Amino acid sequence: MCCSKESCAIFGWHFLIRMVKRGVLLVTTTIFLMQATGVLAQSNSARINYLLNCQGCHSADGKGSAGGAPDMTLYGKEFLQSAPGRRFFIQVPGSSNSSLSNLELADVLNFIARELIQYNEAIQFTESEVEQYRGTKISNVVETRNQLILELVR
Ligand code: HEC
Repeated sequence: MCCSKESCAIFGWHFLIRMVKRGVLLVTTTIFLMQATGVLAQSNSARINYLLNCQGCHSADGKGSAGGAPDMTLYGKEFLQSAPGRRFFIQVPGSSNSSLSNLELADVLNFIARELIQYNEAIQFTESEVEQYRGTKISNVVETRNQLILELVR
């Protein structure tokens, strides 16, 4: 408290410093919260985009169904670890022909890698990577997949 006239000047400084510290704390907390909610929003919209665009064939856990889409978790890690495998993930018709933007598709593929294949160390797909490879069509998807698996799983 400000008791005497002399200490008033000091109090003024203390008050100012305290307010600055509080301000810094408030700003850092706000930035942290903004980042945290940003990350959450991103992974949430990827989850929703997967549900709307991919889940029908791939099922909620990515394991597909007999006679339908293959189990993505089976060779997922191997695909994600290799450059041709990553390109394949971008170029399969379900990915490349979806109505998702390049950034949204990158986020969905990252969601698949992280949540369904459960490979947290996977290199993140980026918007530019998707943009670079998405336009190249795979001529025979099933054959390409089988060939890739033979090469990757030795
Ligand atoms: C109409 C059904 C269908 C939809 C919808 C679909 N896929 Fe697929 N997906 C397949 C099939 C079938 C394969 C196997 C390759 C092929 O024959 O096209 C496949 C293969 C894949 C693979 C390779 C996995 C592996 O193990 O070979 C990835 C990755 C993939 N799809 C991602 C997606 C994403 C992302 C979406 C949504 C944006 C999506 N797919 C939507 C049917 C579908």
